[in-house]
Amino acid sequence: MERTFVMVKPDGVRRGLVGPILTRFEQKGFKLQDLKLMMIDRELAEQHYGEHRERPFFGELVSFLTSGKVCAMVWEGPNAIAGARLLIGQTNPANAAPGTIRGDFALEVSENIIHGSDSAESAGREIALFFGDAEEPDIPRFNIDEIDSYPVEGTVH
Ligand code: GTP
Ligand code: MG
Repeated sequence: MERTFVMVKPDGVRRGLVGPILTRFEQKGFKLQDLKLMMIDRELAEQHYGEHRERPFFGELVSFLTSGKVCAMVWEGPNAIAGARLLIGQTNPANAAPGTIRGDFALEVSENIIHGSDSAESAGREIALFFGDAEEPDIPRFNIDEIDSYPVEGTVH
């Protein structure tokens, strides 16, 4: 199944939009595979947006991205990469359709709330950059599909 990398940027976290954004992805039917709230350093920001290194706004973009916590996520589902970009909307919120995240929550391109991978190649690279590319996660993850097989602790018989 296709996976994509999505990140709520510092403006989205500051404004308390993590919840509404998670809700939109869940309501659409995508499955949350991983999530963490984190500060990113300049090096990671520059690597993540490396394709824009020569653009005039690059310095501003990196400063903005390192200005507060981000919420990094991996979402899975059919056509997840393009589907996430549709939920997110156009890069410039002034052009983003109402109903999209940028269309509903943002006004300016420099603070457009959220990032989504633009291709399978970017998704693979960005997931590895933020979550590592190990096949097995270090920490056992809770899997909702296996809920009946988990031991129940502290049950009063
Ligand atoms: P991301 O999902 O964040 O990668 O956005 P995108 O794929 O819709 O657009 P793109 O990759 O072309 O641009 C990356 C980010 O750079 C945008 O999301 C904006 O936050 C920022 N950006 C793009 N154009 C400008 C600009 O003219 N000024 C500033 N300050 N930021 C810009
Ligand atoms: Mg992009």
